[in-house]
Amino acid sequence: MEKFIINGGNKLCGRFTVQSAKNSILPLISASIIKSGKTRILRCPKINDVIVMCEIIRSLGGSYEFDGDVLLLDTEKVSSWVMPKQLTQEIRASLFTVGALICRFGYASIYMPGGCNIGERPIDIHVDGLRAIGVNVTENEERIFSGNRLLAREVTLRFPSVGATENLMMASLRAKGITVLKNCAKEPEIVDLQRYLNLIGAKISGAGTGVIKIEGGITPCKEDVEFLPSSDRIELGTVLYAAASVGGELEIESEEIKNSDFISKLFKNNACKIHNINGNIYYIGFSRPAVGFGRVATGPYPEFPTDLQPQLTACACSSVGVTAVIERVFPNRFAYVEQLRLFGARADVFANACIIEGGRLHGAKVTAGDLRGGASLIIGALSAEGESEIRNVSHVDRGYYKLEDKLSALGAKIRRERY
Ligand code: EPZ
Repeated sequence: MEKFIINGGNKLCGRFTVQSAKNSILPLISASIIKSGKTRILRCPKINDVIVMCEIIRSLGGSYEFDGDVLLLDTEKVSSWVMPKQLTQEIRASLFTVGALICRFGYASIYMPGGCNIGERPIDIHVDGLRAIGVNVTENEERIFSGNRLLAREVTLRFPSVGATENLMMASLRAKGITVLKNCAKEPEIVDLQRYLNLIGAKISGAGTGVIKIEGGITPCKEDVEFLPSSDRIELGTVLYAAASVGGELEIESEEIKNSDFISKLFKNNACKIHNINGNIYYIGFSRPAVGFGRVATGPYPEFPTDLQPQLTACACSSVGVTAVIERVFPNRFAYVEQLRLFGARADVFANACIIEGGRLHGAKVTAGDLRGGASLIIGALSAEGESEIRNVSHVDRGYYKLEDKLSALGAKIRRERY
């Protein structure tokens, strides 16, 4: 097991390069099965979830290797559509392989996927959508999806589920005619998936809006393809909330800075300066302490992202003022707050809301319980006075590549130790 030792109170200053988006890369790895050839994914972080998805590709008959930060996938020899139980149960994104397997083989078999412990994670929206286009689904310990002849339909999702949108975009490529998805997810990761699928020969439009049209029947291109995903808006937000908690000046390259409204929410309440240096490079200066954020409610994109809720909450704990966070995507996503309270945070959870009164934090020994909850504990420790210890950082490694090195390069006193 590994832990981070952090000595808090140090400003963050310097250049930060945002990795490609984890939540784009994971469905792209699934979608490469449709390509049945070579795909190179650029600026790809070797995070644990990416490795698990690549191991799933290998278990189905494909292969992968890393050349620096380029992930080379080769899915020509993928021959199985039965997902391996152990790997599938490690991450939620394994579920997003169903759509790709149905597109290529007409079949998929999967055990219930794993994923972060952030509350109930049913798959009914996936199943209902797939059944609507003619996929037969049997639900025992394994879920068997079979659909040779699929029907192009108009499908309205009861909730804009990111994964269900991605699964339906890929499965519908097997349906004759044009499938129309309504009330679907609008995240930038959906736009990335559309860009990739069109690159390999699909005809999909509307990603990023609430309506996506998929023209059935795809003959994947034969030539190798290369793809640069969008930058990771959640890693970007994580480092911005860290800097807002301790003060400092960052130079960041990311197209997300001008696109994401969570940035404006952050800046609206905080004494900070932002200006464009050139292209996608921005200067962002934070003066301590951050001011409370008032009321923030998470929701489907373009609302405030649930994946930044823990990081904002941690920043609010060392701010001046009151913050009320309402979680409307994963109502039980506040398990990390009891760990934040060990730093002396004045944060109270009521059902799907957390009320924070900012103040000074002190060092503590805490334990990460999930990916973004772990990131919030790092932010708490960075702003706490004295030394802190964060155990079980394997959760953090699922979504952040060598985060301790990136924070150290900015002046944080953080190191990794075994225990
Ligand atoms: C994706 O998960 C992301 N993961 C999550 O990021 C992110 O929090 C989530 O979207 C919401 O933005 C990846 O992309 C790998 P959903 P996904 O289906 O697709 C309910 C991170 O930290 N729901 O949009 O699984 C569900 O329980 C991770 O990087 C159903 O009820 O999320 C939740 O309440 C965590 N039935 C809501 O919808 C279903 O069939 C949103 O889930 C599917 C979902």
